[in-house]
Amino acid sequence: MKYEKRKVWGVLLRLFHWAFVLSIVALTVTGIYVHNPWTNTVLEGTGRFPLATMRYIHFVAGFVLTGAILTRIYLLVFGNRHEKFLDFIPVTPRNIKNFFATLAYYLYLSDKYRPRSGHNALAGSIYLVTFFLALGQILTGFYLLYPENLTLQGIGLKLFGTQQQARFIHHLLMWYFILYAFTHIYILIWNDIKRPQGLISSIFNGTKFKPGKV
Ligand code: HEM
Ligand code: HEM
Repeated sequence: MKYEKRKVWGVLLRLFHWAFVLSIVALTVTGIYVHNPWTNTVLEGTGRFPLATMRYIHFVAGFVLTGAILTRIYLLVFGNRHEKFLDFIPVTPRNIKNFFATLAYYLYLSDKYRPRSGHNALAGSIYLVTFFLALGQILTGFYLLYPENLTLQGIGLKLFGTQQQARFIHHLLMWYFILYAFTHIYILIWNDIKRPQGLISSIFNGTKFKPGKV
């Protein structure tokens, strides 16, 4: 069978993806350390202060995550056809059909599944939830980081409650990202084995393959 090569993801989306991945990995490792340090927090006699270093890396990665999410929000509206949110959320008849067809396919209830160049509607919905939760992580994070800032205080108190409650929500949300990462990679490999679409390489080179006339 011949395959048509299609450009799907622009450079900005791929940069977003890898900035998102690297910042979340750094935030999770340093976040777990801040929660429960696995070394002495000050190394006596060495002048080293690992807890401060971990917190510093956490905050730098926090700013990278913020930049990445702002970029993705821009692309949700101004990106290419496949990057815009209307292409992959189940609000049109085509996407609602695709949402349930993908669900049935993933549950091994059906073999009828037509691959799409962009995200399928099930994946797209999960991605949108993930962006939203990342925004929650950013808001709780900045609320914890700048408690003296009155604007952040106002937003934080309304949305999350006290600093302790925000910190608890911040911690719980981390587990969503850990679960997400493992499931995401599992489903990508599963799809890549089942269909010769070039799914995984698409997030590096921006192209996918579709059965076609070429
Ligand atoms: C997916 C992204 C993130 C994850 C997984 C994450 C994870 C964590 C974890 C597990 C903690 C420890 C909380 C506890 O004691 O249980 C923490 C603390 C904290 N995080 Fe994050 N975080 C993320 C994003 C951010 C962002 C974007 C910021 C904003 C700059 C931020 C700022 C903070 C602050 C200020 C603390 C408190 C540090 C302290 O009390 O010493 N985090 N984070
Ligand atoms: C090395 C491991 C990873 C690879 C190879 C990878 C690959 C991919 C691929 C191929 C897609 C597009 C799938 C499609 O067309 O529907 C994608 C999307 C996505 N991935 Fe990953 N991924 C990895 C790790 C992660 C991790 C750890 C996270 C976050 C914790 C993540 C977050 C996302 C998000 C949010 C999207 C949606 C992209 C968008 O529309 O903006 N990825 N990934």
